Amino acid sequence: MNNIPEDFQIAIDGPASSGKSTIAKLIADDINAIYIDTGAMYRAVTLYAKMHEIDYEDQKTIEDNLKDVQINFQKTIDNDQKTLLNGGDVSFEIRTPEITNNVSLVSSYAGVREAMVAQQREIARGNRVVMDGRDIASTVLPDAQLKIFLVASVEERANRRFKENTLKGIDTPLETLMIEIAERDRKDSTREISPLTKVDDAIEIDTSNMTIQEVVNKIEDLIQEKL
Ligand code: DC
Repeated sequence: MNNIPEDFQIAIDGPASSGKSTIAKLIADDINAIYIDTGAMYRAVTLYAKMHEIDYEDQKTIEDNLKDVQINFQKTIDNDQKTLLNGGDVSFEIRTPEITNNVSLVSSYAGVREAMVAQQREIARGNRVVMDGRDIASTVLPDAQLKIFLVASVEERANRRFKENTLKGIDTPLETLMIEIAERDRKDSTREISPLTKVDDAIEIDTSNMTIQEVVNKIEDLIQEKL
């Protein structure tokens, strides 16, 4: 695919563990776009609070500290992406269960969202990007040329997270993961500001019974249709 405009933007939204980042990364690589994992940004803010012993409930202190939170991404040679917090690689720390279970709260704070959305728009401006998250089509990039909403059953998502965790040496039981995912869905979908929602012009894809490559192919067909 080499006829894609330089400023073509793809928004991929969906609930936790719906496969967004794996798929977004592969598409970004195929079409030579910048990949922006917005969930990693909210996770980095949550980790910052932990590192500085700020209570996750303490909205004001977290928001006051945002000016000292610098988040960057660095592409690795094997098409993965490192998340840097104030220059340090935190890619592993932001995926620990403690951060995963507190990021919904921290990402619900108005000041946190405002700061992250501004950075996300800045990175995307004028560039070919694939951005994944919860509010990309609804808030961050409402003019994106292609909007995808990925869904999968809670069982399937818990299974995927279980396999990922096993590879990382994290051994949370499957039943616990199902409860945590359902709880995160509830928090992400019911929060006041920019909740997880499917916008009218987003195309929904249920990935429960699809392979990663099938989803990638489907989205790349949709890109072709938009050109
Ligand atoms: O995609 P993820 O699981 O890494 O996202 C972590 C959390 O960040 C998720 O529970 C909700 C929040 N988030 C958000 O509020 N808005 C986004 N655009 C991306 C993530």
